[in-house]
Amino acid sequence: MAQTNEYIVIKAKEDGVNVIGLTRGSDTRFHHSEKLDKNEIMIAQFTEHTSAIKIRGKATVQTAHGEMDNDSK
Ligand code: TRP
Repeated sequence: MAQTNEYIVIKAKEDGVNVIGLTRGSDTRFHHSEKLDKNEIMIAQFTEHTSAIKIRGKATVQTAHGEMDNDSK
């Protein structure tokens, strides 16, 4: 399984940014939704349970692949 120990950092730039975890395996569905308010930071990993992360709202996201700015909804 393609898994790393890598963390991703999400910094919310507005209230109500959603960080959504999607399940690993043949059934891909939401399993967790975390709401961040402006200037809150979440540090998350891909795990046995989480294969993808969807971010909605204005945020800065840092990963091993670089830094990205997400726009508002
Ligand atoms: N219990 C979840 C897991 O171990 C927690 C989690 C890890 C998570 N990474 C995430 C939730 C990213 C949302 C987004 O997989």
